[in-house]
Amino acid sequence: MANKVIINTDVKKGKINKNIYGHFAEHLGRCIYEGIWVGEESPIPNTKGIRNDVLEALKKINIPVLRWPGGCFADEYHWKDGIGPREDRKRMVNTHWGGVVENNHFGTHEFMLLCELLGTQPYICGNVGSGTVQEMSEWVEYMTFEGESPMANWRRENGKDEPWKLTYFGVGNENWGCGGNMRPEYYADLYRRYQTYVRNYGDNKIYKIAGGANVDDYNWTEVLMENSGHLMDGLSLHYYTIPGDFWTGKGSALNFPEDEWFITMKKAIHMDELISKHGNIMDKYDPDKRVGMIIDEWGTWFDVEPGTNPGFLYQQNTIRDAIVAALHFNIFHQHCDRVQMTNIAQTVNVLQAMILTEGEEMILTPTYHVFDMYKVHQDAELLSVDTQIGTYEYNGETLPQVSVTASKDGNGNIHVSFCNIDHVNGNSFELDLRGLSNAAKVSGTIIKADVMNAHNSFEAPETVKPVAFEDVEVNGSVLSVSIPPMSVVTLAITED
Ligand code: AHR
Repeated sequence: MANKVIINTDVKKGKINKNIYGHFAEHLGRCIYEGIWVGEESPIPNTKGIRNDVLEALKKINIPVLRWPGGCFADEYHWKDGIGPREDRKRMVNTHWGGVVENNHFGTHEFMLLCELLGTQPYICGNVGSGTVQEMSEWVEYMTFEGESPMANWRRENGKDEPWKLTYFGVGNENWGCGGNMRPEYYADLYRRYQTYVRNYGDNKIYKIAGGANVDDYNWTEVLMENSGHLMDGLSLHYYTIPGDFWTGKGSALNFPEDEWFITMKKAIHMDELISKHGNIMDKYDPDKRVGMIIDEWGTWFDVEPGTNPGFLYQQNTIRDAIVAALHFNIFHQHCDRVQMTNIAQTVNVLQAMILTEGEEMILTPTYHVFDMYKVHQDAELLSVDTQIGTYEYNGETLPQVSVTASKDGNGNIHVSFCNIDHVNGNSFELDLRGLSNAAKVSGTIIKADVMNAHNSFEAPETVKPVAFEDVEVNGSVLSVSIPPMSVVTLAITED
């Protein structure tokens, strides 16, 4: 049977919320400090302490929403330590991540400035594990209260007259684990209590996100939805792609055998099952899909690079990561009726990062390039896609070889993205764009590699980068496409 992809260009299946392309930056390792914040006195060129090179690179990928300050760090973060003159700020130990001293130089004002400079919406995660209701409530008052109030006045004293706009607020993080080791029943009640005091001041309307399940803990979702679903706007889910075992060896980011390539792809695709199953439970309590599924931590998690601090979660990033990112986006698009936001972990120097830095140097990872290639799908309408495209076989196991997604933007432009997860074989297929009245005009970009661990380094920063995609022949509204192994492609299609 010939390989074939049919795209029904008139059959729209829902809007792809741009927030699916969200990010996560935690006080962990060198993500915030060094990666984003260098301080105003730094020789590294910066805007009020935020490094310019990283800022410019991140602007280019249109980050719609940024989650902060954690992660596990969120449930031991006390926001009042991070405001006022920097030299007076309290120093604390970051017990989760390397036991290093946190000087609190990057706090609420600095984060809000970062969001402003990036043109991104803030998503702040509050402290339930070790914080009080009053503390959480006052943080929201500090950030969003317009009139005269103790917290608003204090914000003004610290140099910010007008309140910030704050849309997304998380009530705790991983409260089944680092956020307090709670039972779902207990957290469901705490969620009800804490969220009561996350107030909407003036015209600021907060989208409240409850701490969700770890991987396949379906009971957590069930208990949360049953007891607190009516009080939340979003419920989170965390799932990382880890080829090995979390505790005994996750696998190397760079030096991995073939079977780890395959298993990484298989585990990435598992996200689809998790969304379906958690989604089915959410449907039971929320058939209208009012509550968004917020996958606010996802991505690859490998062993740290040899010689680096084990608590800093610094890993390199290869073409394998690029394909994992593309697979996730294709899956998230498919579930865009329920998945309203996702946040890759993490933006700089931690886990599946966009950017790696060393002193004043910065490199873009293959994952960054996929975010860049896929940004055309933000807020576009998902199109119906049928694929008959063959399988990727390894050691008697099979996976679908090519994953495809397509969308139409507000100007009627169609974008089709696909990735070939096979590390050996290419694929050729016919792409039938049903519903076009005229011949297609096509341009494309590809990111590919010849070896499984192709990556960018400080010595060779452009080994993996997007180039023009030429292997496409246009015949009216039908395209003949050939893609190499280990590749991600985005086509832009208009009508002649
Ligand atoms: O992203 C790293 C950590 O992974 C986060 O802090 C935590 O929420 C998760 O376990």
